[in-house]
Amino acid sequence: MSTVSGPATDVAQQVDGLEEIMRAGGEALRARMVRTELHLERVTAQAGAPLASYATATVRAGGKRLRPLLVVLAAESAGGPPAEEDGEIRLVRAAVAVELVHSATLVHDDLIDGAQLRRGHPTVAAVAGRDVAVATGDLLFSLAFAELARNDSPMQLRALSDASSALAEGELLQREDAYASDVAVERYLRRCELKTAALFEAACRLGALGACRGSGRLADALGAFARRIGLAFQMLDDVLDVSGPVERTGKARGTDLLDGTVTLPLILARERECELAAFDLASLGSPEQAEELCERIAATGALDEARERALGVVVEAKAALPDALPNGGSELLHLVADAVVERYR
Ligand code: IPE
Ligand code: IPE
Ligand code: MG
Ligand code: MG
Repeated sequence: MSTVSGPATDVAQQVDGLEEIMRAGGEALRARMVRTELHLERVTAQAGAPLASYATATVRAGGKRLRPLLVVLAAESAGGPPAEEDGEIRLVRAAVAVELVHSATLVHDDLIDGAQLRRGHPTVAAVAGRDVAVATGDLLFSLAFAELARNDSPMQLRALSDASSALAEGELLQREDAYASDVAVERYLRRCELKTAALFEAACRLGALGACRGSGRLADALGAFARRIGLAFQMLDDVLDVSGPVERTGKARGTDLLDGTVTLPLILARERECELAAFDLASLGSPEQAEELCERIAATGALDEARERALGVVVEAKAALPDALPNGGSELLHLVADAVVERYR
């Protein structure tokens, strides 16, 4: 089988961009992320052949593991996992479940977007075709819920299933708005909330709900923080699609535009330049033309404005975070907020 796999999983590499947080979190945080990584690999490998190999390759290909990190940090911020024997493994299961949902959506997203590269490797859809990509994504979704069900927590299950439904709705909204010339900023933000922010929120909810001092109120507060971070993360990801370069993003510049996805930089550029307002995305015929459109968008100053708006959302996120969370939670979550921004400087 040709695979999408990269080198065997290396935890240090997985969290590279977030190394400062790992240092600040100390050995306990590192140990939990290592456990999460190992469990992730175990869960995907245990599914039957041939899909298990694609599922394993997908999680092995890398990724920042930002969402499992949020699960673990939210749990710490709510007093840490309960001291009972299975407190640790319940936390790891929640972190694994969130990353599996994320992986599932990426496999499906790449199929829908017609993307060739993910994490610097050919996508499952590119390597194995549509049917295998659909089934691999489905398998990853199913493994996520099977894993979380073992925690026997209806509230955790509800939080993850709400996020999965939001994700599906967000992808559908994106398809509905494909190639449209009149997508409003509010509608774009709604799409980002659904397809990205909801899973960030679920990550923090799951962590808080499983912790020994976790309450519904704290889960709401941490969820609200994560939702803002997730929104900013998607806004900045969309800026990066237009600004490039490919060496930094692992994807060709203008991939979203070529695929008809109307993102904030284009929406803002259209407000600034009437020729762009009239530009039909469906007329883009090649990656070179998409790159040219990226240049035109950048020339309007729309990228700076989109970046500024995203940074404003990160400021809101930080303001929503409760002070003096235990186990250094406030500081560590502030660092996550900074890392989201830092990636795009
Ligand atoms: C990619 O998410 C999808 C978006 C929401 C933009 P990440 O950038 O977190 O993907 P990995 O897991 O690190 O590859
Ligand atoms: C995020 O959207 C994907 C999901 C939340 C499923 P994008 O389409 O922008 O993600 P990338 O750019 O392909 O990583
Ligand atoms: Mg995509
Ligand atoms: Mg993108």
